[in-house]
Amino acid sequence: MTKAQRACLAEALVSGYDLLRRGAPSIDAVEATIRVLEGSGLFNAGCGARPQLDGTRRMDASIMEGRDLRAGAVAGIEGVRYPVAAARLVMEETAHVLLVGPLATHFARHFKLDRQPSPGKRVQRTVSLPRARLTGLQRKTRDLFAQMQKPSRLRREARETVGAVALDRDGTVAAGASTGGIALMLPGRVGDTPLIGCGVYADNEAGAVSMTGLGESIIRIAVAKEIADRLAGGANPATTARLVLAKLTKRVQGSAGALVLSRDGRFAITHNTARMTAGYWSGTGRPVVADRFP
Ligand code: GLY
Repeated sequence: MTKAQRACLAEALVSGYDLLRRGAPSIDAVEATIRVLEGSGLFNAGCGARPQLDGTRRMDASIMEGRDLRAGAVAGIEGVRYPVAAARLVMEETAHVLLVGPLATHFARHFKLDRQPSPGKRVQRTVSLPRARLTGLQRKTRDLFAQMQKPSRLRREARETVGAVALDRDGTVAAGASTGGIALMLPGRVGDTPLIGCGVYADNEAGAVSMTGLGESIIRIAVAKEIADRLAGGANPATTARLVLAKLTKRVQGSAGALVLSRDGRFAITHNTARMTAGYWSGTGRPVVADRFP
């Protein structure tokens, strides 16, 4: 983790907790926290999202609250500074849960959501590929299809989705996540982040969960819902997260990290990857930020 990332995470935690302290709902705290991370350009989400193989950034995000199980998500959205805000609008302003692709972008434009600054030189160069390089790109894409049979290859390249979970003074939990996907992904690829029950879940009868890691593995276990179901049965967050991540490893050779918060405020940050950059704050002292958790 860089110094700038550490400072940004601390800022995000403070901004979310300050809202909770003032009595705001947990969904506001989750959105505010994620927006700081998306806007920073320091993580693989929002302004820092990595491009797909054709050079275009297509981002995924979701948000969910645990009182009425309301949820919203976007997948493959482009040019939006805070994709989590678009997910929140899907939840608040439509009768749907998930909008995808150019029409998700159109939806964000309709609500005049902040636009992302134009991508850096590296991304722009990739967009205007000359023919020879385009052929190379097609070959790379074909190779990637072959590699998709080899989960170990993809596993090494998954990293840096952002997310948050929170519990407010009314006892409502919320969870959210936002990502630019994984390295070397095919145009059109969607991961776990916008899929409710895979990348996020929130239920006042259980708790809140937000996932980071390789979407191709997380989706197949529906990890967030599996953790939430165990919490609903009274299980401890740390034990639950460890057990479900062990199942992920055993069944699909997956790698992931989980933010887990129970309905009574116990929490765990657990990962089966070498590192997971994350933090927590409960309003006293300094926010705790680290890139390894037990
Ligand atoms: N967890 C982020 C992704 O796989 O897209």
